[in-house]
Amino acid sequence: MMKVYIITPFPEIISSVLGTTMLAKAEERGKVKYHILNLFEFLDNENDRIDDYPFGGGNGMIIKPGPIFNAYESINDVSRVIFPTPDGKLLNHKLAKNLSKEKSLVFICGHYKGIDQRIRDAIVTDEVSIGDFVLTGGELPTLIILDSIVRLIKGVLNKYESASSDSFYNNLLDGPHYTRPQNFRGMKVPDILISGNHKKINNWFLEERLKKTKKKRKDLLNKSSSFGEKNE
Ligand code: 6GU
Repeated sequence: MMKVYIITPFPEIISSVLGTTMLAKAEERGKVKYHILNLFEFLDNENDRIDDYPFGGGNGMIIKPGPIFNAYESINDVSRVIFPTPDGKLLNHKLAKNLSKEKSLVFICGHYKGIDQRIRDAIVTDEVSIGDFVLTGGELPTLIILDSIVRLIKGVLNKYESASSDSFYNNLLDGPHYTRPQNFRGMKVPDILISGNHKKINNWFLEERLKKTKKKRKDLLNKSSSFGEKNE
């Protein structure tokens, strides 16, 4: 079972999402255990605050190293420490897969330009960005990174939701999907899907994935070595 620790000044953002969706199901299934550490409970003394003015001047407040260190030191099994930040390494399937194999992960939710550098230097192992844009806090990126990791842990998704056909699993985008009704307001499901010929159907799905990838993400096709092979 993977243990996940999230250090945050906004525990309710994290708990509201972890209590629902596949992320909650993963915990119910015993694949992962979440521990949310409220930064305000780790002050050096009760009259202290979690942030303070920046040395050297500048706008905004900086989260003090003390509370984060205290929270970190209360955890006794740490494999990787992830700090979501727009200047980190871009998240992709490969990194998510790699992190999904760890025994325990710690996430530190800070703010861009808003966390004392000594935290990053001393305890963070992975600085991860979710894209070239800036968000106000680390809570939403943490949930996004965590979602991408947890769904790849074996036994979290059931067969029907299997990750193996997802976009990026094979460096191929996912293809189209249809369900009932067969004819919706005159828009029909492709005939091949109701032909009952599974070999042809599988070929069709692969063709559709290739077509879409060629059209939207040609860069991925160059990485796609052979189709049976999983480029994890
Ligand atoms: Cl990981 N954090 C924040 N605060 N903003 C971001 C981000 C992360 N990735 C892109 N923008």
